[in-house]
Amino acid sequence: MIQGKTAAEIFECVRALAQSQTLRSGDSLPPVRDLAAQLGVARNTVASAYRRLVVAGIATTHGRLGTIIRNQYEPSEQEGAQTDSPLTDLASGNPNVAWLPDVAAALQRTAYTPKLYGEPTVNAELKAYIQQWMAPDCPPNFEVDLTHGAVDGIERLLSAYLVAGDKVAVENPCFLSSIHTLGALGFQAAGVSVDSEGMLADELEAVLSKGARAVIITPRAHNPTGCSLSQQRAQALSKVLAKYPNVLIIVDDHFALLSNATYYSVIPNDAIRWALVRSFSKALGPDMRVAAVASDSATSKALGLRLTSGTSWVSHLLQDIVAAIVTQPQTNELLAKAKHDYHQRRQLLEQALHQHGIACQMQGDGLNLWIPLQVDDQSIALALARRGWLVRHGASLAVDDAVNGLRITISDITPEQCEKLAQDIKRSVG
Ligand SMILES: Cc1ncc(COP(=O)(O)O)c(C=O)c1O
Repeated sequence: MIQGKTAAEIFECVRALAQSQTLRSGDSLPPVRDLAAQLGVARNTVASAYRRLVVAGIATTHGRLGTIIRNQYEPSEQEGAQTDSPLTDLASGNPNVAWLPDVAAALQRTAYTPKLYGEPTVNAELKAYIQQWMAPDCPPNFEVDLTHGAVDGIERLLSAYLVAGDKVAVENPCFLSSIHTLGALGFQAAGVSVDSEGMLADELEAVLSKGARAVIITPRAHNPTGCSLSQQRAQALSKVLAKYPNVLIIVDDHFALLSNATYYSVIPNDAIRWALVRSFSKALGPDMRVAAVASDSATSKALGLRLTSGTSWVSHLLQDIVAAIVTQPQTNELLAKAKHDYHQRRQLLEQALHQHGIACQMQGDGLNLWIPLQVDDQSIALALARRGWLVRHGASLAVDDAVNGLRITISDITPEQCEKLAQDIKRSVG
């Protein structure tokens, strides 16, 4: 069905087939060698057409699955609550609303003065707070910017430096929104496995040596596995990154305000392009769409340009509220209680699973608990849905190689639910 003698013709033909839905999202394109033989052209010609399809976002490369068609406009699985589902939702990744600060009260304490075009983009009080917060974890002389959440920051940082088709190293399994961001921008995700100490340094090196231009590393509360970098692993990753000075290093410390783990930096002191991104979404609520970005000054300028061409700055109204909340002593108490509560809920589920002989990632951090599986996780998730539970399975979070497991959001799970869920997982895994 695919025709053409030149790379441009093959590209246009596949594009037309995808647009007419003759080729559908998820359909595999023939292996390069087969299509080249069939069309009587050089393999390079087909390979070049496939590369263009990936850059244009019409196809993606999926490790051993080869090149597959992707529908850019079809809504795909997203993070967040399934408000129309009758199931008990343990898939949302949401924080517990009981632990979110009172934004309305903060709003009343905030005296808003109008801001005009051209004024400083970051509220001075918030900037001072962020500088103090970030300084121990950053190379010296960093700049502070704000974005509309971590995902927005990561998207702008990547698009400031990379071009479509570039490879980005990410953890496998990976945070769903990072997978979508890369897809939407036409970047290729290159998966790096994780263990209980975080991203594997030798696999990162392998991916960087093959030309990845950027890496996104989650130092704490990796989503979905919950693991955090050990000091040793952070040093090993830093050593690898020091060998690739042109790679953009993005550290997504999304759970910073609530994390129980120590922060270990992977950013070499003389790194050229780096950014440490800390979101307020989990601690203050996902609607507080603000993330702090600390970076070297060239990266800060590049990010500034990417902001100027879009929303320009994060509304000062929102910044003022965030500043009013984070600088209040009561907020620290609330965050400490939230941390303790999330930790307890996680432990309860860990214990219940342990009692039923189900292995899980122990002593994780974040709002999710990960259960690695040796069996097909989609069928287990389906079996759990029949028993009334909505959980996320690894297939949707896998980058290139398959990952089998279940992600359970623990933020408002009750002791009774822990016991019942553990029983149901045991029955479903059989
Ligand atoms: C790895 C990771 N990064 C970032 C975020 C939050 O992103 P945002 O600040 O855009 O809400 C999450 C939320 O679940 C996450 O798991």
